[in-house]
Amino acid sequence: MSDAGSPRPSAARSLADRVVVITGGGQGIGRAYAREIAADGGIAVIADVNETTGRSVEQEILAAGGEAVFHPLDVSDAGSCQALGRFVSQRYGRVDGLVNNAAVFSTITMRPFWEIPVEEWDRLMAINLRGPWLLTTALLNSLRASPAASIVNISSDAVWLGRGGYLHYVASKGGVAALSFAMSHELGADGIRVNTVAPGPTYTEVERATVSPAQKTAMLERQSLHREAHPEDMVGAVLFLLSDASGFITGQTLHVNGGMLHA
Ligand SMILES: NC(=O)c1ccc[n+]([C@@H]2O[C@H](COP(=O)([O-])OP(=O)(O)OC[C@H]3O[C@@H](n4cnc5c(N)ncnc54)[C@H](O)[C@@H]3O)[C@@H](O)[C@H]2O)c1
Repeated sequence: MSDAGSPRPSAARSLADRVVVITGGGQGIGRAYAREIAADGGIAVIADVNETTGRSVEQEILAAGGEAVFHPLDVSDAGSCQALGRFVSQRYGRVDGLVNNAAVFSTITMRPFWEIPVEEWDRLMAINLRGPWLLTTALLNSLRASPAASIVNISSDAVWLGRGGYLHYVASKGGVAALSFAMSHELGADGIRVNTVAPGPTYTEVERATVSPAQKTAMLERQSLHREAHPEDMVGAVLFLLSDASGFITGQTLHVNGGMLHA
């Protein structure tokens, strides 16, 4: 079969001059995504509900010579998502990459599912699951204006592990993987790719109560690589999925978990 006449796709791995929105970029793994996207030449649009941490990551990137801008965002709120959409559209005219990373995670109180307050369930779902849908919708025109837009939705390996203690979180992240897969079909005609990254347990600068010391040891044993994952371990997969090097990959879930055994 001849491919004469069809344009050769780019396999460039660089994100130079790409406008990339990173939600929850103010701390933890999102901060690492923002820093490395900017280090790769991209323009990091840091969107976070926490203005203090978001602005400090913006300053950190600018001080290192990268390009970054902070914009406040409550991803559960349609009006807030639209405001971010207007901001990026006016400033850049397009969005080349979107990392739907913001979530209620490090602040979760672990408890049996029958003890989760309904209000907490609803609030978490509004941020973790409704958020990626609302923001992708608000950025759609700007994503369509890019020649090679890529969306990376952050799920969690906790879904495939069936981890107990935070049923609303596991359900929300299962929903993110499903949303991604279906969204990839709806956006394929626009040439917009949508993939999922499912991180395994990742230890950031933020203290959290979602892993007890005993659970941590057990999970490290279930990994093929018996070491802790750091935020930087998640970055390569996200940069790859944002770049043209993954230009024919969409609707996929990439587990970045050191070879965690799921069963
Ligand atoms: N750390 C892990 O072990 C791990 C494992 C699997 C998946 N994940 C996922 O990776 C992502 C990042 O994890 P993390 O450990 O850095 O989490 P984190 O809790 O440290 O950071 C979450 C970020 O999201 C922001 N945020 C919360 N609510 C928001 C809202 N309504 N609007 C906008 N921003 C909001 C917070 O301000 C914060 O900056 C999350 O989606 C998490 O579920 C983390």
